[in-house]
Amino acid sequence: MLPIGPLRIDPPLVLAPMAGITDHVYRLMLRRIGGVGLVTMEFISSEAITRGNARQLRKLVFADEERPLSIQIYGSDAGRMAAAADIVEELRPDACDINMGCPANKVLKGCAGAALMGDLPLARAIVRAVKARLTIPLTVKFRLGLDPARINFLDLGRMCEDEGVAAVAMHARTARQMYTGQADRSRIAELKRHLAIPVVGNGDVATAEDALALFAETGCDGVMIGRATMKNPWIFRQIADRLAGGPAREAALDERRDLMLAHFDAIEASAHDAKEALHKLRTMTGWYTNGLPHGRALRVRISELRTPADFREAVAQFFDGLASLAAPAEALAS
Ligand SMILES: Cc1cc2nc3c(=O)[nH]c(=O)nc-3n(C[C@H](O)[C@H](O)[C@H](O)COP(=O)(O)O)c2cc1C
Repeated sequence: MLPIGPLRIDPPLVLAPMAGITDHVYRLMLRRIGGVGLVTMEFISSEAITRGNARQLRKLVFADEERPLSIQIYGSDAGRMAAAADIVEELRPDACDINMGCPANKVLKGCAGAALMGDLPLARAIVRAVKARLTIPLTVKFRLGLDPARINFLDLGRMCEDEGVAAVAMHARTARQMYTGQADRSRIAELKRHLAIPVVGNGDVATAEDALALFAETGCDGVMIGRATMKNPWIFRQIADRLAGGPAREAALDERRDLMLAHFDAIEASAHDAKEALHKLRTMTGWYTNGLPHGRALRVRISELRTPADFREAVAQFFDGLASLAAPAEALAS
């Protein structure tokens, strides 16, 4: 169980915020599979929502079924961030998170995201201003520091604790590293040793075993996973199975097919046009067929399809074909 203020996140497993990925449809899909304790939205620009940007405001939609859910905001101006916190508070998610880890240049130039790690007084002012507007718990997500010469996650963690932040999440890379190299787990253990508030460890968890190792090696209170959920949306359920002492359930073929088709429906219903729907469907098919026999042939085929209906048919045929294989369990393992 991961305590975040009055929240009890159980299992202590968190969906990492991912811009362009962790939208309403994606979060619901993971919730329906089960095993995830807390889901997070894609980051939301404080500038955009406080200026009424319709596209960003649309991203703030969520359903009760997604709860517990956290909304992540970013920005470099304490006043704007406080105003964004007012909007978040009104929407009544279960928690609000401040992004101090995003290394994208667009965000860094505006001195938000990871750049805040290079300006602790500003980071503190932002945390204080946002906290003052919230009744829901506040969390902060950061990296090790800007680069190897400026590793300051312990100072950041302590600042958060002093300011009444309920929990922190750390992606154990520097901003300079972007996504290269390996996340350094020993740093998560170090942060955990120095803080009294809960610490969520993040970075490179690709399997249930990785998650168990992260808990065991660092003593972290929760594990956050991002990219691996795209290749294996069942990962949270598998970790939860292991945490409960049982074997991890693999996704059966019919479960994969049903999930994929249900996700298609949701994408089609929420996309603005067929082109956008097709783009998302193609990306998603790559995820779901990862590791399945003939998955590559399906991916090639769907790159030529032009309508969601053709798409659905190709996927249904693909799974029918797999089901008729003599030993589907062996096929899955190959
Ligand atoms: C496509 C993509 C988008 C991301 N967007 C965000 C974001 O909006 N906010 C954030 O704090 N981190 C963002 N991240 C970082 C992830 O939350 C996470 O810290 C990182 O991917 C490491 O975890 P992983 O190895 O489990 O993927 C993003 C990562 C990816 C790959």
